[in-house]
Amino acid sequence: MRIDGKVVLITGASQGIGAACAAEFARAGAKLSLTARSEPELLRAGPQALVTAGDLTSEETRRRVVERTLERFGTIDILIDNAGVGLYLHSWSAPMEDARYLMEVNYFAPLGMIQLVAPHMRARRSGMIVNVASIGGKMTLPWMTLYSASKYALGSLTEGLRMELRRDGVRTMLVCPGYVKTRFQQNARAGEAPERVVQGRRFAITAAECAVAIRRGVERDARTVMTPRTGWLLVALARLFPAAVEARLAAMNGTA
Ligand SMILES: NC(=O)c1ccc[n+]([C@@H]2O[C@H](COP(=O)([O-])OP(=O)(O)OC[C@H]3O[C@@H](n4cnc5c(N)ncnc54)[C@H](OP(=O)(O)O)[C@@H]3O)[C@@H](O)[C@H]2O)c1
Repeated sequence: MRIDGKVVLITGASQGIGAACAAEFARAGAKLSLTARSEPELLRAGPQALVTAGDLTSEETRRRVVERTLERFGTIDILIDNAGVGLYLHSWSAPMEDARYLMEVNYFAPLGMIQLVAPHMRARRSGMIVNVASIGGKMTLPWMTLYSASKYALGSLTEGLRMELRRDGVRTMLVCPGYVKTRFQQNARAGEAPERVVQGRRFAITAAECAVAIRRGVERDARTVMTPRTGWLLVALARLFPAAVEARLAAMNGTA
C-alpha cells in the first residue's frame, strides 16, 4: 500500500518502536493519529499528529481514539497495533492478575481496536491492519512464557483475520521483531530478564530499523515481517530441532 497521504493510527506511539514508526510514517507522507498513556511523549513523537492519550485496556479509550481519528481525518487507512508489555515471571507462579493484564494489553486491546476499525475498512473495501507481535510469538521464550503466549494469540488472530477479510479488500500484516533496543525490559509489568538475555542486547536492532522494516512491509503488502530477517532461521531451527533449541533456551533462562 502507498503510504503518502494515508491516515495511520499507531498505538503505543509514545516511545520505542511506536514512536519510531510515527517518525518513519510521517517521513513517508502519512497523516498520523497517535495513542498511548503518556501525552507529553506522544506530542514529542508526533508534533503534527492527532494525539489521544489513554489506557488502551479501556474500551472507552479505544472508542475515543477511533472516533477522534475519524472526526479529524474521515478515515483510517492503516491501523498499527503496536502497544505491548512484557512480563518476566514464571508462568507456573505469576499472579493471575499479571497474566490477565498481559492478555488485556497484548491481545484484547488490539482485538478491541480491530473491532472498531475493521468495519470502516470493510465499508471502504480498503485498509491494512498491522499487528506487532514478536519472534516470541513464533517460538516460545521461557523467560517470558506468558508474553510468548499473548503474542502467539495475536499472530493467530492476524492470520485468521486475513482469511476472514480476504474478499473485503482489507489486508493484515504480522510483525515479528527480534531484540529491539527500547525500554521494553525496564517497562515490563513485573520481573527481570535473565542476565544472558540482557547480554543479547548487543545483537539488537534499533527501533528506527524496526520501523523501516514495518514501513517497507506495508508498502509491499507483506503478510509477515520478521525483523531482523535472521529470525526466520531461528524459527526454522526451533521447528526442525525442537529438543536442541529448547535446551539452549532453557540454558539462557538459567533453568537447563
Ligand atoms: N523491544 C523488543 O525487543 C521487542 C521485541 C519484539 C516485540 N516487541 C513488541 O513491540 C511493541 C513495542 O515495544 P517497544 O519495544 O517499543 O516497548 P516500549 O518502549 O516499552 O513501548 C511500549 C509502548 O506501548 C505503550 N503502552 C503500554 N501499555 C499501554 C497501555 N495499557 N495503554 C496504552 N499504551 C500502552 C507505551 O506507552 P505508555 O507507557 O505511554 O502508555 C509505549 O508507547 C510491543 O508490542 C512489544 O511487545 C518488542
